[in-house]
Amino acid sequence: MSKSIKVFAPASVSNVGPGFDLMGFALESPGDEIIVRRKNRSGLFINKISGDGYVLPTDPKRNTTTVAIQSLLDKYDISDGLDVEIRKKMGIGSGLGSSAASSVGGVYAVNKLLGLKLSKDELLEHALAGEIIASGSLHADNIAPALYGGFILVRSYDPIEILKIQFPRKLFVSIVYPDIVIKTCEARKMLPLTVPVRTAVSQAGNAAGLINGLLTSNYELIGKSIIDSIAEPLRSKLIPCYKEIRDAALSAGALNCNITGSGPSMFSFSRSLSEAEKINKVMKDAVRRSGYKSKSYLSGINRVGPKVIG
Ligand code: HSE
Repeated sequence: MSKSIKVFAPASVSNVGPGFDLMGFALESPGDEIIVRRKNRSGLFINKISGDGYVLPTDPKRNTTTVAIQSLLDKYDISDGLDVEIRKKMGIGSGLGSSAASSVGGVYAVNKLLGLKLSKDELLEHALAGEIIASGSLHADNIAPALYGGFILVRSYDPIEILKIQFPRKLFVSIVYPDIVIKTCEARKMLPLTVPVRTAVSQAGNAAGLINGLLTSNYELIGKSIIDSIAEPLRSKLIPCYKEIRDAALSAGALNCNITGSGPSMFSFSRSLSEAEKINKVMKDAVRRSGYKSKSYLSGINRVGPKVIG
């Protein structure tokens, strides 16, 4: 019986243009590390959080990782003592599914450590319980890719149904994360409660076009379908260098360039690693010229989701 386990859980890009709350994909890097250790005393504890700039709650009842784990423990009436260590490897409020990575990492680690043999479908509701604490809303477009890996579509929320979408073998992601904090709960408050039919039609057309483009490796269709007519026109105002980043990426050959999740990170797709490297550089330069610091990431799409690393 192992005394501890260490898990990697990936960051994710959500919305992916027209798939607001419906689409997302997992990244090969970055990703959080979650360590869970057995304890003699019963109860769930957080013994350490690092890489978060001291902003995450250390109270297990308020932390997304432990709320997700507690939801799982309660459902299966488990009272084992567990100590959790959270190593954040991505910015909080970066738009890269930081809370989702930590929630998924937590439930995945406990499932493995305690030998529960629960399926990913069974872990989903518990990871979502953690995400709700972080963002104040039910959206699965970061949790599902972080948990299942690959490119996912949330076909339905009630009941929840997750579909995995095939994607071209050569699809690279360039990401720039400007040094700006956007809280998902705040960025959701700015969204309209209703949208005009014309907007809904255009969003549905692009969403269907994107899925078709992914399934048929039609890069041109992927690029022209990655347009968000609902959230991005409003949220782009929260990113002062939005236009500069987008223009730079497109002129360097990106298939398209959009906000990931509620931002401020922006992502671009490209079909080769060398293009993705070039795009990464010009996106980062655009942020610097606008007077902000940034981090950048270059990644393929992660096909497996979380994994045990120790
Ligand atoms: N779909 C969510 C939103 C993702 O855009 O609010 C948040 O990361």
